[in-house]
Formats: sequence, C-alpha cells, structure tokens
Amino acid sequence: MRQTMAVYLENCNFRVIQAENGREGLAIFLEKNPDLMILDLQMPGMSGLDLLAAIKSDLPVIPTIVVSGTGSRDDVIATLKLGAWDYISKPIVDLAVLENAVTKALNKARLITENKRYQLHLEEEVSLRTAELLRREQELKMTLISVVDVVASMVEKRDPYTAGHEQRVSALALAIARELGLDEDRYEGLGLAATIHDLGKVAIPSEILSKPGKLTAIEYSLIQTHAQIGHDILTKGTAGFPWPIKTIVHQHHERIDGSGYPLGLKGRDLLIESRILAVADVVEAMASHRPYRAALGIQPALAEITRYRGIRYDREVVEACLAVFAKRQFSFEYS
Ligand SMILES: [Fe+2]
Repeated sequence: MRQTMAVYLENCNFRVIQAENGREGLAIFLEKNPDLMILDLQMPGMSGLDLLAAIKSDLPVIPTIVVSGTGSRDDVIATLKLGAWDYISKPIVDLAVLENAVTKALNKARLITENKRYQLHLEEEVSLRTAELLRREQELKMTLISVVDVVASMVEKRDPYTAGHEQRVSALALAIARELGLDEDRYEGLGLAATIHDLGKVAIPSEILSKPGKLTAIEYSLIQTHAQIGHDILTKGTAGFPWPIKTIVHQHHERIDGSGYPLGLKGRDLLIESRILAVADVVEAMASHRPYRAALGIQPALAEITRYRGIRYDREVVEACLAVFAKRQFSFEYS
C-alpha cells in the first residue's frame, strides 16, 4: 500500500521519501524536514499516535495526513486531537482522494506560512516606524526646549532686575503641578511656558520695566500688553509645539473671577496650566525683589494667595502651592 501510494504521488510530481516504520519516519522527518507527512496508525516500533505527538511537539504547523485501516472513531478523534490535518480510511479505492488531500494540506500550509511571514514583517515594520517616530518627536522636543531657553535668556538680558524670575516661577509651577498630579505631557508644556511667560516684555521699553518708583496708569497698562504680545509672538513661532504654550502665556495674568487681563476670562475657561502659572507667578513676584520695592518674603506671598483662594486663584492650585511650601519640598533658588 505504501509503495502504491508513493508511486502514485510521484506520478503527480511530488517527491516522496518512504520510511518502513514509525521510528524511521521520525528520524527522516527530523533530518529532511518534509513539507508534509503521511502516516499509518499501526506501525512497527512506534505507533502513529506516538509519532504524531513527537512531531507536533517539535513543529506545530507541519501538515500530517493519517491513512489507516484500523481507524475506530476514537482513533480518528485522537489523531485529530494530536493535530493531524486529515484522516483517510484504508483501503483507498481511488488514489485521487489521497492526491486531493495532499494538495489541499500543502496549500493550507503555504497560506499559513505566508500569513505568518506577513504578520512578522508587519510587526517589524510597525515597531521600526514607531521607534523612528518617537526618536523624531524627542528630537523636536529637544530643539523646542533649546529655542525656549534662548528666548528666555534674551528676555532676561533686557530686564536684569527680575533676573531668574521666570526660572523660579517655572520651578514653583512644576512643583505645584506635581502636587496636583498633572499629566506628564502637560507638565512639560507648563514648564516651558513658565520659562518664557513674560516673553512679551521684549516689546516694552526697558525704562518702564526697570523703573524704580510707582508706575503711572499708562505705564501699567503698557506693561499689561505683554501677555497679549507674548501670545502673538508665540502664535507665529510655536505652530509645531505639542503643548498649548501660547495659550498658557496668554492667560498667565487672568484670574478665575474674571478680574485679570487681557481677556477677563473666568474659572474653567482657563487652562489648568494657566491657573497654576498665575499662582506661581504671583508668589514668586511677591517673595522676590522688584525694581520698585524690596522683597516681601514668602509668608506675605502665601497670605495673599490664601486670601484670594477660590476668588482670584484656583482653590486647588492654592492648596497645592501651600502644601508644597508646608512640606518644605520647595524653596526659591537665587543666584
Ligand atoms: Fe507676566
């Protein structure tokens, strides 16, 4: 029967390797790595079921066709459970049935292999592209950060009396953001926005910025334009920024009761970043030396935000700021 099947399949252009028994079959299988295996259940030395089990544990996708005459229903179920792809009962009256089964199994195996290869290729492609995107995003962020640093030091050069103000505000804003558990993504944007929040002051004459005495109403309203100017400058320059930096800068003098400037926005219309920055800015400004007065110290600054919590300043942000100082997690650094 084995000879007959081999001759028939060779005539159908398949290359056939024969084995006398199960053990020899397994050895040939391991050595030659065939595309398909046809086996009987009752073979000398090693049964068909044992052979199937040995093959399947080694290579799960090899197509196997069981040809057996002893096949009880239980045998058939057992072979299929062990992963046989097809079961043909002996005697095989028409060998075309065998050829069909072989062709079908080989086609199916080819599809499975191609599919796996495609899947693997796709996964590799996706992970490569993702890594590339992440790298570029990181590069872009680093570039943006250095641009912001340059702009910040430029602004500071024009306004030496408040040197370090923006850095200290940024440090406090980030400490408050940590306390509040702000998202990591927004955290970065807040830090950058805080670093350049007074950027618009480049358009204000430095005599006004560093005027030692009390400002006139006109001078004060001129200074107030810096929030809008900063926003306008950043609108042109930050289109590619992944954070709402221009909006944070725009809103840093807004107050939650609508008493701030330039738009008089209220409460939840303000970004959380802007509400944090507003508090950090006020605390730093009061605590530190200004051109027109000496430093007031941290306690009056904290008293000011406490007094206006829930009125001018976001209540939760104020609580977080007080907590940051109370826990001694934060202090301003002056160089
Ligand atoms: Fe400001």
